Order: sequence, then structure tokens, then C-alpha cells
Amino acid sequence: MSHDTTAINKLMDKFDGHHSVWLFGYGSLIFKADFPYIERRPALIRDWSRRFWQGSHDHRGTAAAPGRVTTLIPQAGAICEGMAYLVTPEEFAHLDYREKNGYLRLSTDILFEDGSSVEGLVYIATADNAAFLGHAPELDIARQIASSSGPSGHNSDYLLDLAAALRSLGKDDAHVFEIERHLKRLLKDRQ
Ligand code: SIN
Repeated sequence: MSHDTTAINKLMDKFDGHHSVWLFGYGSLIFKADFPYIERRPALIRDWSRRFWQGSHDHRGTAAAPGRVTTLIPQAGAICEGMAYLVTPEEFAHLDYREKNGYLRLSTDILFEDGSSVEGLVYIATADNAAFLGHAPELDIARQIASSSGPSGHNSDYLLDLAAALRSLGKDDAHVFEIERHLKRLLKDRQ
């Protein structure tokens, strides 16, 4: 699979003809909604875990020194909490470009806090994409994040903004919060 998933995502025609589509965000899409949306609601998806296992060459790192950003790893029984946005299909041109470094649009059931659910889309960077980095201990992930930056800014801001957004939604994520704990200490030690 090539790095740039834009062309593959354009072929995803499941929601063609729909006036609006729900998009589930679990990473930067929670704290950086740089697209118009009709409505947004806290939501979750099942059987996926959020992990900082995806390399970022184009946003929070470079090809020579990739940062680490989130993707979802299949895990039976797990839940991933985030934010769902109701968007018009035109937004996917911008979103495909933004998520082009390995992320594919997948259809998924999105569950809302009132118990209702809807079929929508999520961007997932699967383990076979060229930028996938995979598992590493949280301390090593924090070290890599502390030393990475790219066109969209410091990798540390991605992690800290995501942790803050989850906290303000009242959501827990042991993986994210442990990386945050290490990262804050690393950044403090540098001062
Ligand atoms: C997402 O936020 O849903 C996808 C990953 C990212 O853009 O950080």
C-alpha cells in the first residue's frame, strides 16, 4: 500500500447519494475540527482500541523523523470513545487529504450516549500501511513524541491536546494518559 491513501478513499462509495454522513473521530479529529459540521456528539465505537502506533510524516513529524499519532487496533470487547460529526459528503475531499498518510475510510456502527446508533465512517490506519510503526512501551512513545514535530506543529501538542479533550469529555484512556504522564515529565526535565 502506498503512503497516500487519497485515491483509495475516493473509491469508497458506500455513502454516495447521502445528504449527510456521521464521521467518528478519535484522535486529532476530536480536538481539531477544521471542517464545517452540522452537528457533533460524543460517541463510541466497539472492538477497537486507540493506540499511538501510527507514524506521522506529514503532520507531526517528517519522513526522516516520523512522529507518532493515533490509529485504532482491533480488540474484541474494547471500546473507543471520541466525537462524532455529522458532515455533508463534500467534506470528505478535505478529510481524505488530511488523513492521507495511511488512513482508510471504514464504515462502522457509531453509538451515542443516549443508546442510539448509526452507521458512519471512521479513518483507520491499518497495520499494513507503510507509515505504521506498531507497539512500543508508553515511555518510548513519549520519548519519540517529545522529539518530533512537523508541518502541523509539535507532536507533543497532539498528545496533550488529545488528553485534555478526552478529560474534558469525562473519558478515560489509560494508554493516552500514561504517555501524557511520561511526556509531561520529559518536557519538564528539558526546561
Ligand atoms: C481521527 O482523529 O479520528 C483520526 C486520526 C487523526 O487524525 O488523528
